[in-house]
Amino acid sequence: TQAQIGLVGLGTMGAALALNIAEKGFPIAVWNRTGSVTESVHSGAGALSPRIVPTQTLADLVAAIARPRAIILMVPAGQPVDDQIAALTPLMEEGDLIIDAGNANFHDTNRRTADAGPVHFLGMGVSGGEDGARHGPSIMGGGDRADWDRVAPILTAIAAKAEDGTPCAKWMGEAGAGHFVKTVHNGIEYADMQMIAEVYGIMRDGLGLSAGEVSGVFAGWNTGVLHSYLVEITATVAAATDPATGAPMPDVILDAAGQKGTGRWTAIEAQHLAAPVPVIEAAVMARNVSARVAERAAGQARFGAAPGPVTITVDALEQAMIAGKILCYAQGFGMIEAAGREFGWTLDLPEIARVWRAGCIIRSSMLNDMAAALAEDAGRNLMLAPTFARLLEGNGPALREVVGQGALGGHAVPALAAGLFWFDMMRTGRGTANMIQAQRDYFGAHGFDRLDGRDSHHGPWWPQG
Ligand code: 6PG
Repeated sequence: TQAQIGLVGLGTMGAALALNIAEKGFPIAVWNRTGSVTESVHSGAGALSPRIVPTQTLADLVAAIARPRAIILMVPAGQPVDDQIAALTPLMEEGDLIIDAGNANFHDTNRRTADAGPVHFLGMGVSGGEDGARHGPSIMGGGDRADWDRVAPILTAIAAKAEDGTPCAKWMGEAGAGHFVKTVHNGIEYADMQMIAEVYGIMRDGLGLSAGEVSGVFAGWNTGVLHSYLVEITATVAAATDPATGAPMPDVILDAAGQKGTGRWTAIEAQHLAAPVPVIEAAVMARNVSARVAERAAGQARFGAAPGPVTITVDALEQAMIAGKILCYAQGFGMIEAAGREFGWTLDLPEIARVWRAGCIIRSSMLNDMAAALAEDAGRNLMLAPTFARLLEGNGPALREVVGQGALGGHAVPALAAGLFWFDMMRTGRGTANMIQAQRDYFGAHGFDRLDGRDSHHGPWWPQG
């Protein structure tokens, strides 16, 4: 069989992607550093194995693919990607294409695109975990449009399809744009997960709900406005039982969150862009705090800060989640808009919302309405779109109640609070930065603008008269 595409790296994600590609009718040549893995993926592919060409050297991989070739890399982000590019490039020809489908830092993708010579390079964000890769991920491509168009038939065939049938695979923009959008996706993923963890904490420690009861609450929410993959799996994992002890799974898991860095990259990049994404920043911070297990135990021993009972209804928690989610996405899309201006990318916000509707980890019903609202006016803050302004009016008071009650009861709700305070700042015409301007002018003669437009741009700061 002449393969139509190749793939390097048969870990969980790579193997799933290869099977997906084969299943959609595209013969694929595969190579893995450990050759036995290649053989077992091939032999384990059942009916799909005739469409999978196992190869034991990179030269054999390249030779097995029809020209112009395209090879997907699914290897760990960072140096391994550069190593694979260096190893493959001499074996490939002008017009061939290497596609990095890992979770690359988009700055690396910018560099790799700029450095690409006769062998072209695309950076592509792939979301949806193993199941997504196998049955339909969300794909965010970046690089030269012509290169994307060449492989788009395969990528759209393997991608998830939204309810209206649209494939969730799109070219996002030049160079690192695809990996940038994937990074923001992951920042929002962190934020959605953190807000879920915060209301879970209030249910567990403030309302005394069992894991099974928590599961029921999330299952209920999943039939409403919050319908989403992350709410759905929260219901599932909360209902699971530990085979070793018979206890609910969540109750046996250490409360220290891992992270591979994409959420952190989002927060760092947001700072570079001067784009406020406080809910995402709070989520990254909370993962970092969670990892300090011994320090937290010492804090509790000294201050006895275990969270106490609260008088909040489960409905108020749902409403707070709805408001928090809208605010978080408004921030995320605002950051993407800022990046488009800064990097000169033609980032299409409604298209990004559409690509996130299915396949990816943050997929949710709300993204349908977000796509529609952004299509009306991509430059408008999402919180001002009529659909979401109404939802914020209806659900914002509950967010305020949950943050307030949570604070009084000793429940840490940093992401929900960050959303609320951003909202309060964004709906305050006369803020307090006039004081900061006064201080800056006092100690550094930095100047300020006057409300009345008069032309005095400095003090005087000594008492007059
Ligand atoms: C996805 C996910 C995925 C990410 C994991 C782990 O869209 O499928 O974002 O790409 O690697 O969720 O991320 P952390 O280890 O940083 O939590």
